[in-house]
Amino acid sequence: MKKITLLVALLYLTQNNAQQKTATPTGIVVTKAMVVSAREEASKIGADIMKKGGNAFDAMVGTELALAVAFPFAGNIGGGGFMVYRKANGEVGSLDYREKAPLAATKDMFLDSEGNVIKGKSTETALAIGVPGTIAGVFAVHKKYGTMPIAKILEPVIALAERGVVVTKKQEKSLNDYHDKIVKVNGENSPASKIFKENDTIKYTALAKTLRRIQKKGRNEFYKGETAKILVNYLKSKGGIITMNDLAKYEAKWRKPLQFTYKDLKITSMSPPSSGGICLAQILKMLEPYDLAKMGHNSDEAIQVIVEAERRAYADRSYFLGDPDFVKIPLKELLDENYLRGRMASFNPEKATLSSEIKEGQVNYAESTETTHYSIVDQYGNAIAATTTLNDGYGSKYYCDELGFFLNNEMDDFSAKPGSPNMFGLVGNEANSIAPQKRMLSSMTPTIVEKDGKLFMVVGTPGGSTIITSVLQTILNVYEYNLSMQEAVNAPRFHHQWLPDLITFEPNTFETKTINKLKAKSYLINEKPTPIIGKVDAILVLPEGKLEGGADFRGDDTAVGF
Ligand code: DON
Repeated sequence: MKKITLLVALLYLTQNNAQQKTATPTGIVVTKAMVVSAREEASKIGADIMKKGGNAFDAMVGTELALAVAFPFAGNIGGGGFMVYRKANGEVGSLDYREKAPLAATKDMFLDSEGNVIKGKSTETALAIGVPGTIAGVFAVHKKYGTMPIAKILEPVIALAERGVVVTKKQEKSLNDYHDKIVKVNGENSPASKIFKENDTIKYTALAKTLRRIQKKGRNEFYKGETAKILVNYLKSKGGIITMNDLAKYEAKWRKPLQFTYKDLKITSMSPPSSGGICLAQILKMLEPYDLAKMGHNSDEAIQVIVEAERRAYADRSYFLGDPDFVKIPLKELLDENYLRGRMASFNPEKATLSSEIKEGQVNYAESTETTHYSIVDQYGNAIAATTTLNDGYGSKYYCDELGFFLNNEMDDFSAKPGSPNMFGLVGNEANSIAPQKRMLSSMTPTIVEKDGKLFMVVGTPGGSTIITSVLQTILNVYEYNLSMQEAVNAPRFHHQWLPDLITFEPNTFETKTINKLKAKSYLINEKPTPIIGKVDAILVLPEGKLEGGADFRGDDTAVGF
């Protein structure tokens, strides 16, 4: 009996200390503070703010708005996002600056008279646009934790917009890829429709003026002032339904973040209206009893068990999750360890569980492709993970010439009709149906990981439905597989989201042998050419306190620090 207890204790110890060594860093290493974001210009503005004595919250405001200038593909003031923080004293919190459905939105607004989803209506029309939250978000952050005057934080951002941003090779490609769609919505004469090549400089004069007004007059300039009026008139002329009242009513919300443990890690991530934290927690908790390290990095065995956990979590996502201000979410029940162990009881290592055999779990409770992420650690020990989006690349493509920015198409993140997939193939249900003032369910997963009570990792990514699984793999790559931060970001990724019942692999990255083994167990593989999975920007705190950046090579992402 004693022997067995000792064995179990030993097993527990090895499993709970999956990764004690730290890999040699391969990313940029700095000693004090760092920003990793989608563009060097934005990372530099954030890092400079901290160099001048500002904290991570000041840097967040600067980086977020600098991305709106330097990375209009996803950086925005016409969209929204989520921010998770951990202060140097260990206090955690999160801000929801997600878009909201306008007051005039209706449950069936994207359906025809027969109840079918009208293709493109929730993505390509002015009705796709949700009430933007970004400006409310950055001002809320600044009000609560900022230390530098907001005018000073905005100055380099406005200067960048006036001076212009040099087009990179990858940006040239993205502008090219989206050109026809942008022209279709805005016409040939819009500044957004111009063709740019690598090394050209794009000046954002109209955006600079908008930001200058916001710098002078504050948050309400966007929600009640001249900017609001111009925006509402523009949207009206395009058939949109956002009113002055919608803008005036918008508030960013401080929310209790989701906290859970995985072995000896403590993880803080975004709670609803993002599904990110819950799904990440469910998947990691389902995986906890398995020895992933022993199975091997990206081995068929590890892929299999991860896929099965993902499948089950996404099935729950589809049924239970939505805006917590509108629907009751059985959080406690969904995160209950017994419930999650029970969910994995049907896992058979010999054979794939088909998604058609998996539904949402039984819980008892009282009924009542484009984003961007940045990670920041400051010299005082504060950490921020923030993910912000217009939804699709350049959002709805609607670009208000006078204000100089793109508007989101976030309304597509609602479930237009139960069971009908959105642009990421995600299906939803009543919990995520459209209602006035409701926030659409998100997958954004800004996450902060602690180990031994200390800051360990700051991580997040764009990628629609693949956000959660990319964050998951990045954490596992460091913790279970001893990869450096940069290696963990670089490593090839795979994804499963319950429906469609397919494993997607990053193209040409996984061994045919591995894929064949999975096929032999009846796993269905997405053989079509697929886009990159995630674009992770992360920071790892090394044992001696230095910071290693993981900037995703899949984009122009860059770590800057000192
Ligand atoms: O909130 C969400 O989950 C989506 N709107 C995110 C979109 C996204 O990541 C697109 N990027 N590839």
